[in-house]
Amino acid sequence: MQIEKTVSGVRSQVKKWKKEGLSVGLVPTMGYLHEGHQSLIDRAVEENDRVVVSIFVNPIQFGPTEDLATYPRDLEADCILCKRAGAALVFAPEVSEMYAEDFSTFVDTSQVTEELCGKSRPTHFRGVCTVVSKLFHIASPDRAYFGQKDAQQLAVIRRMVRDLNIDIEIVGCPIIREADGLAKSSRNTYLSPEERKAALVLSKAIFTGKAMVETGEKDGEKVLGAMRNIIEAEPLARIDYVEMVHWDTIQPHHRIDGPILTAIAVYIGNTRLIDNFLYE
Ligand code: PAF
Repeated sequence: MQIEKTVSGVRSQVKKWKKEGLSVGLVPTMGYLHEGHQSLIDRAVEENDRVVVSIFVNPIQFGPTEDLATYPRDLEADCILCKRAGAALVFAPEVSEMYAEDFSTFVDTSQVTEELCGKSRPTHFRGVCTVVSKLFHIASPDRAYFGQKDAQQLAVIRRMVRDLNIDIEIVGCPIIREADGLAKSSRNTYLSPEERKAALVLSKAIFTGKAMVETGEKDGEKVLGAMRNIIEAEPLARIDYVEMVHWDTIQPHHRIDGPILTAIAVYIGNTRLIDNFLYE
């Protein structure tokens, strides 16, 4: 497996593969890889001749008070996981390789970024869309793989790809959970043992809401109320949002009569965790 730090290095390798008629899958990540990322790489390996994994903690998607400085990093372990999973190339650039000092061009998606995480993280999706479009231009993949855990991110990237006529298939992959239900996340490492236990209110709320919807509840307010009650019973938990949106528009929609995303963001201590379920 090749490890590349430069844009030109990735481009020349991908050009060679394309000349040979090989298909390319891209798995964009911020590193500190876990089984959730592994499932994306596995799927990409199944569906493409060559797989590129990008590992880049993208500074422009973090707000000024967020965890950019402390975001966990372990490039060595990440490369071992990528190699074992069958990736052909890891792209791990420095910030200076991705952003010139006078970098001044951004990709901004509206509407689908207004609600959920967009409310409390107003510049986040601009940073995500900008870096993801850069990665698309650098790796020229046929397909790119994103986790359903960041459901709004998946919707935003699909919208960007549609609106800008980007010729890349976006593949959404299911949420991977710990045995006790907690959705896998690099940020779970921030949790103390007590917080780790408390964090189970997220998956408990999600499973409860999902069961209500799947057994025929049509009133979104009732579902959201039941989910809020579960979270509010945990003293270490503080709700950022518990919301139901239409999956196409990502606008609030409290009647279960179409494809619905129910998403939550909850602080456990200082750690902000997200989870969701999709009903189609
Ligand atoms: O989901 C992530 O890890 C990041 O938001 C992404 C898509 C790699 C962009 O930095």
